[in-house]
Amino acid sequence: MSSYDAHFRVWRGDATGGGLGDFTVEVNEGEVVLDIIHRLQATQAPDLAVRWNCKAGKCGSCSAEINGRPRLMCMTRMSVFDRAETVTVTPMRAFPVVRDLVTDVSFNYAKAREVPAFIPPADLKPGEYRMQQEDVGRAQEFRKCIECFLCQDTCHVVRDHEENKEAFAGPRFLMRVAELDMHPLDAAADEGLDRKRAAQEEHGLGYCNITKCCTEVCPEHIRITDNALIPLKERAVDRKYDPLVWLGKTIRRR
Ligand code: SF4
Ligand code: F3S
Ligand code: FES
Repeated sequence: MSSYDAHFRVWRGDATGGGLGDFTVEVNEGEVVLDIIHRLQATQAPDLAVRWNCKAGKCGSCSAEINGRPRLMCMTRMSVFDRAETVTVTPMRAFPVVRDLVTDVSFNYAKAREVPAFIPPADLKPGEYRMQQEDVGRAQEFRKCIECFLCQDTCHVVRDHEENKEAFAGPRFLMRVAELDMHPLDAAADEGLDRKRAAQEEHGLGYCNITKCCTEVCPEHIRITDNALIPLKERAVDRKYDPLVWLGKTIRRR
């Protein structure tokens, strides 16, 4: 493939407003969208703000929307676009813009802090923990998360509904609750912490209507909906309608 000139539209602006700027930029064989953004910075827009770090799909920094779809800029090859196509790059829509392609993702860190960490069993010392390989494998899928927040950006519950942000943790952090709730050694219940109840009442599990858009955009191909959110919903519902839970609640109420 020879070099060619691509037409790019890139969002420029800050919290007060902005718009799309038109650019023609050289593209070489094997390049990704982030390469083109860097060339744009180097040749035409030296003050263009963009966040990136690894250029290998592992740091989760370069999240943006490319032709309206949430993607990592460093993992989006230019070869997926037609040469004549205009490539539009905009910041993630669900988060406030800092400048140009850089958004303020602190919403996600606030949600992360709301999920209590793993509580180790009191009767075991580190080194004595034993788990079935099946349980390890289940949690390991969720541990591939690079915290790019593309799933958070894409979920319709918050994407167009700023007002839902307070009550809804988003797929990434509901997945974290699911991971901890599935963990056979998590001793949260012994400490009086009911992770299923918290998922429903504190992290907004009920807002998720399993549209699976989060799963579709995950660059790590984590099956967020099928393997974390649906099982968490099933267990939370079981808990709610469990006759023993109902009986316990009724007796406590008396
Ligand atoms: Fe990104 Fe996937 Fe993690 Fe969501 S679950 S933050 S899309 S890596
Ligand atoms: Fe949102 Fe994913 Fe549920 S996109 S609605 S969290 S399945
Ligand atoms: Fe690290 Fe893109 S620069 S994921």
